[in-house]
Amino acid sequence: MAYDDLEILLDAETIARRVRELAVQISADYRGRPLCLVGILKGAWVFLADLVRQLTLEVTVDFISIESYGDNSTTTGAVKITKDLDRSIEGVDVLVVEDILDTGHTFEYLRGVLEAHKPRSLKAVTLLDKPSRRARPVLADYVGFTIPDVFVVGYGLDYAQQYRNLPDVRILRNIS
Ligand code: IMP
Ligand code: MG
Repeated sequence: MAYDDLEILLDAETIARRVRELAVQISADYRGRPLCLVGILKGAWVFLADLVRQLTLEVTVDFISIESYGDNSTTTGAVKITKDLDRSIEGVDVLVVEDILDTGHTFEYLRGVLEAHKPRSLKAVTLLDKPSRRARPVLADYVGFTIPDVFVVGYGLDYAQQYRNLPDVRILRNIS
């Protein structure tokens, strides 16, 4: 898998610095309250792993896996759950951990699903935000980086399941 020629948008050090800043802010906002992180598989797992180790809170972690219908580079709005939460989130402070907020279809669907479980509160952190592509009116409470309309891979993000292991976020051009 050749990736050295892919332009770096965010290098590993820049990401690490921003993840620490987000963790400081989240730790302050939830001080004294147990927090349940809900990671969205698969893209958010690398970000979640780095973030959770910087939080100075009582934390539990759960995952939800969703599949969106569409091609490899965009979602069409039709989403289904392929792995549900393991534990109830009723009455719990929940922070959804997303890799990237693009059109917003995925998060809008997910927010509806999670709200139905009656959490005490529901917020979201996304590593990346592409607001220029938004089709649904959703916002993340915490955003790592706002990026332009480019397709990115690495640090958990894939193209056709490839590139998730890259330590930095790189731009993949000329995709269909
Ligand atoms: P949305 O439903 O359009 O907001 O898309 C969210 C999902 O689409 C993310 O969780 C990613 O899996 C995928 N996605 C959107 N943009 C990118 C990108 O630039 N690179 C890799 N995956 C992306
Ligand atoms: Mg994906």
